[in-house]
Amino acid sequence: MTEGIKLFGVAGHPVMHSKSPAIFNGLFKNRGINARYVRIAAWSPREVMSLFTDPGFSGINVTAPFKNSMVSLIGNPGEDVIKTGSLNTIVKDKHGIHCYNTDHYGVTESLKKYAGSLKGEKALVIGAGGAGISAAYGLVKEGASATIINRTMEKAEKAAALTGSSFYSIDNLQNHLAESHIIIITLPYEAEPIDISGIKAGSIILDASYKNSHYREKSGINGLRFIDGSEWLINQAIPACEHFLGFRPAYSEMEQSLNADSIEKGIISLIGFMGTGKSTTGEMLAASLGYEFIDSDAEIEKHTGMPVERIFTECGETAFREMEKKVLLSLKGRKNLVLSCGGGAVIDNENRKFLKNSTACFWLYSSLENSVKRINDGSRPLLKTGNPLAAAGELFKKRKDLYADACDVLISSDMEPDKIMELIHEEIRLSL
Ligand code: S3P
Repeated sequence: MTEGIKLFGVAGHPVMHSKSPAIFNGLFKNRGINARYVRIAAWSPREVMSLFTDPGFSGINVTAPFKNSMVSLIGNPGEDVIKTGSLNTIVKDKHGIHCYNTDHYGVTESLKKYAGSLKGEKALVIGAGGAGISAAYGLVKEGASATIINRTMEKAEKAAALTGSSFYSIDNLQNHLAESHIIIITLPYEAEPIDISGIKAGSIILDASYKNSHYREKSGINGLRFIDGSEWLINQAIPACEHFLGFRPAYSEMEQSLNADSIEKGIISLIGFMGTGKSTTGEMLAASLGYEFIDSDAEIEKHTGMPVERIFTECGETAFREMEKKVLLSLKGRKNLVLSCGGGAVIDNENRKFLKNSTACFWLYSSLENSVKRINDGSRPLLKTGNPLAAAGELFKKRKDLYADACDVLISSDMEPDKIMELIHEEIRLSL
């Protein structure tokens, strides 16, 4: 890999399920674009912002629960962000940081493929969260009339006022289902499914949940036209790509690799620079999952009977890298294991391939100041210079692209190890 790769990503929590990395990385590969798209898991919008600026992303998509809460952190909101109060795309260019909402295109472009023009159509939006608001906003923009129904009336009322829609209580659901030709469901898959048997045959139903849907089969039985949430996903990614890279890919280009990225979760690997807390977090994570824990440095020390520092001085870095590779590759096929990797393990192509294809790989990122502070005990041979911070900066510059290339998920480790551990634990649990 060459240096200077452009970093893109999707931030949310949970975020492991996201298919955005698959569609964007597929596109980058097919078009020969030197870029990488990763998942960013975080507890708070501030954490997302700090990971956006450092290690340095060119652009990110944003998913739940940060679509609304990030708006106030960014200047220059686009018109669609102001009108919907939510964003799903953040871009950095030479003029600053900008944010957009492309979700409403996702909805209207998906519907137009089946319904033609939306002008004068009567549409029902179920759910008044970020996705519901964007759907209603897009529909009204296209000349349709939108009605929002939500369990909490206050939320429905607010969403309706923002988007120029009407709103009703959930008690009116069945009447509205029977009257509407277009129905958009934005409830999470985990919410109690609604009864769609009263919808007129020939109507269109779009379910935002692309992970799984309660309505696909039932739509077939009831003579409804079902639109999968992944069409919405792709149709919002096309204008997002235009914001990121200045061109609009074809739908078919984005669809090609939609299912190309399934994460192998038998081994959970932690990568990242020295002093980012991989060993401490890894050990805690293994204990809480009931998994075995392997630390590549500790494993090498056990085999050789020498501390890493001595191996570097007596055998050299090349010999150490060979030992490191042997440890990593010997784990292929193992299950229920947490693996903490030495900071340089990603240099080797085969190691990266293994981490990418055979593990759920988390990149722990700390500011260099914090990393160096954590390891000022002289135990890291590569930082034994007069100015460890400068040496760390040089080394990290060379490795950043390699961490990005190997990882599935990036998380901040500028917090206590138990919070890092909990974030990874939740991501794994929610994605199983
Ligand atoms: C190294 C990181 C160290 C250890 C060795 C080399 C590196 O592990 O493997 O000093 O090249 O970054 P940690 O990342 O656990 O500090």
